[in-house]
Amino acid sequence: MCGIIGFVGNKKAAPILLNGLERLEYRGYDSAGIAVIKNGEFEIEKTVERISALKEATQNGEAVKGEIGIGHTRWATHGVPSEKNAHPHLGFKGRFAIVHNGIIENYFELKSELEAEGIAFASETDTEVIAHLLEKYYSGDVFGAISKTVSLLKGSYALGILCSEQPETLYAARNFSPLIIGLGEQENFIASDVTALVSHTKNVLYTKDGEIAVITKNKVDLFSLKGEKISREPTFISWNVDAAEKGGFDHFMMKEIKEQPDVIVKTFEPRIKNKEVFFEGLKLSDEKLKSINRIIITGCGSAYHTGVVAKYVFEELLKIPVEVDLASEFRYRNPVIDKNTLVMVISQSGETADTLAALKEAKSRGAYILGIVNVVGSSIAKEADDVIYTWAGPEIAVATTKAYSAQLIVLYLFGIYAAEKRKSASANLLNILLDEIRSLPPKIESVFKMEDTIKSLAKRHFKMGSVFFIGRNIDYGTAMEGSLKLKEISYINSEAYAAGELKHGTISLIEKGKIVIALSAFEPLRDKMMSNIKEVKARGAFVIATDIKGNSETHKEADEVLYIPKTHPLLLASVEIVPLQLFAYYVALYNKCDIDKPRNLAKSVTVE
Ligand code: AGP
Repeated sequence: MCGIIGFVGNKKAAPILLNGLERLEYRGYDSAGIAVIKNGEFEIEKTVERISALKEATQNGEAVKGEIGIGHTRWATHGVPSEKNAHPHLGFKGRFAIVHNGIIENYFELKSELEAEGIAFASETDTEVIAHLLEKYYSGDVFGAISKTVSLLKGSYALGILCSEQPETLYAARNFSPLIIGLGEQENFIASDVTALVSHTKNVLYTKDGEIAVITKNKVDLFSLKGEKISREPTFISWNVDAAEKGGFDHFMMKEIKEQPDVIVKTFEPRIKNKEVFFEGLKLSDEKLKSINRIIITGCGSAYHTGVVAKYVFEELLKIPVEVDLASEFRYRNPVIDKNTLVMVISQSGETADTLAALKEAKSRGAYILGIVNVVGSSIAKEADDVIYTWAGPEIAVATTKAYSAQLIVLYLFGIYAAEKRKSASANLLNILLDEIRSLPPKIESVFKMEDTIKSLAKRHFKMGSVFFIGRNIDYGTAMEGSLKLKEISYINSEAYAAGELKHGTISLIEKGKIVIALSAFEPLRDKMMSNIKEVKARGAFVIATDIKGNSETHKEADEVLYIPKTHPLLLASVEIVPLQLFAYYVALYNKCDIDKPRNLAKSVTVE
């Protein structure tokens, strides 16, 4: 996600903005910029490099005059990383400069209307629409222009706004994206999170959705959109800067696990309108989609695991053969592919060497390539014929959680989208799935309430030698992901196994005390899983089962049960992975492992 910062006071603004942006670097970004007002004029500096490049260009900001300014680190969602797409953006009369964190869902309509009025756009971003609307509605009253502008916006925003005709005042507005106001002595700040301002002040105001702030160096006023004054007590921040980067969590991984409900909403919300799924910018035509007679899904690690889950979903919804293959295998085999094959390439980073090579191999054989990627403008996003972004924001922990969840959501949405176009599933089922997708975030929130239970379960078992994760159908894919989470951060050997396959050899490894995590929540095959639990229990295993709340007989079979809220079986992976993420986290914590940076691993494996 992007980061914003703003300052108004008696010191040069630029050095403070640049240092604040450096504090936001951990959020990940691909470009950055600042705007400062001096003598009623904007001075704007932008870069597609690091903040350090901006510092070099401005002598650490000392060369930029002016005591009021805004700054931004951009995580591209609309428009590739470039100086013209970097914030701040100016209005068409050059009187407004703005920075934005969030996604304006109706920017396309608003942009078309503004262009029809003859307003020229300098960037591909959704944000620029806001700058022009402010310009359009401004006639001396900045607050009125802001209020009118934001009332037209659909989506999320945290805005820092400057008007060259009001050079003493910094404005801010927020809806669904975090925005904090820092209260100093003869100076005040805005920022996306505490990290950027906590070195200047620990007294902050947390804004709420639908509020507008009017900030000078001596005064901070909060208003509702209608102009009603809001009074709010400041909060004293007890965190240090390091903790602030993790939002108060001990590790980025836990922060990102807890961000999953929000990330899921951000990934599906702009893509479901009136019970219809649509992907803005998707080039795949309906005709081409109907001509597809086979799907191959490829990726590495967790990205591959989302493909294993999607295979079951797509075969159910699309009634065409779906093959999933590890990219490192796919790239060296002789895959039978033709122009009617859709190859879906899944990657958080968009830079994984094996996955990029697999993409090129499939493309050379005539397949249509659809990338599902988190990093805008990454190599895989550029090489693919088409791309759907996961909008999970930057993922810092090496072990993926929120990006994995966002990939699942995009895959579900694509399955529903394609099934609707191909008329291969009933409208009733597709509507049920869309409603169920909307219910996933609160269901995941309810799993978070099990955290203490999961933490104590991890405490009882963190010295375990090795673990089997077993499951059937979609639970087999979830078993793979749960197993990978555990081994990559706690270094405990673990293996995911198709539950029905155990009896063909591997069950010889089951002995007294062997831990088996039996994923039993896929209800169509629960009875089979109960038999598998009996099978391994009879040989001495200690079984931790997952199941749907209410299936109380599971307790009679397994030693421990983690009950999760019921959801549609096709969407089960999104809920059932969460207790496994938490379990892996706490096992690694008790084993004193480096949770965010596990040994031998990189966040993106850009080499073979
Ligand atoms: C997952 O927790 C691992 N970090 C790893 O398996 C990862 O999923 C894999 O390397 C693929 O990365 P990508 O999604 O960036 O392509």
